[in-house]
Amino acid sequence: MQLRFTTWPEVEGYLATRTDILIPIGATEQHGPFGLIGTDSLCAEGVANTAGERAGILVTPVLSVGMSLHHLAFPGSMSLQPSTMIAVLRDLADSLAHHGFTRLHFVNGHGGNIATAHAAFSEIHHRHPQLRCRMSNWYELPAVAGLVKARLGDSEGAHATPSELSLSWALHPEHQRQTAPQAGAAVMTGFCGAEDFRALFPDGRVGADQHRASVALGAELLEAAAGELLRVHEGWLGA
Ligand code: NI
Repeated sequence: MQLRFTTWPEVEGYLATRTDILIPIGATEQHGPFGLIGTDSLCAEGVANTAGERAGILVTPVLSVGMSLHHLAFPGSMSLQPSTMIAVLRDLADSLAHHGFTRLHFVNGHGGNIATAHAAFSEIHHRHPQLRCRMSNWYELPAVAGLVKARLGDSEGAHATPSELSLSWALHPEHQRQTAPQAGAAVMTGFCGAEDFRALFPDGRVGADQHRASVALGAELLEAAAGELLRVHEGWLGA
């Protein structure tokens, strides 16, 4: 149930029965030669909306720009600074807390958001002692990780991966790209700023073989992610 397609009386009615909400967060950053710039946001909102629709849970609009400073050497990437993103997440939580939401489940599609989001949660929990934040990285949900390991093995890599390309294309098949075989990408190693990242990973991929991506795999991943997200969410509410 997407918040943007509800009315305020409907939200008021929802809050009379439950106070949980899903908040997808993503990124706008390069995803290698064949991956969409919006991959992380598309995946996060796709998983959250599918799960929310299935179980009648409200889902906020996606926060589509995240912490992507290290991708800015590639055209099209956009980023919030960590301090800005903390402030944005805090303001969103303040808004939701004001209405009485008490369980904020962030559905994340971008590894670069994790540290910043956890810093924001420290501020949010301090401001709203009755409120709880939780974050699920869709690609790390065990059912998803198991499926990726079985289907993709080492070709998954660490950034601009065939699994996230698959999911984004399954959600938006009109934007699928035709891949071509790629030379092996460098595996993940330490990096500092954006120029350093591009020097280490010249086409934007990190250890990923994008030629393995497919809409069919994306459909399987969506099913696994939405199902597992709901199990995690219900377990959290019941704890
Ligand atoms: Ni990504």
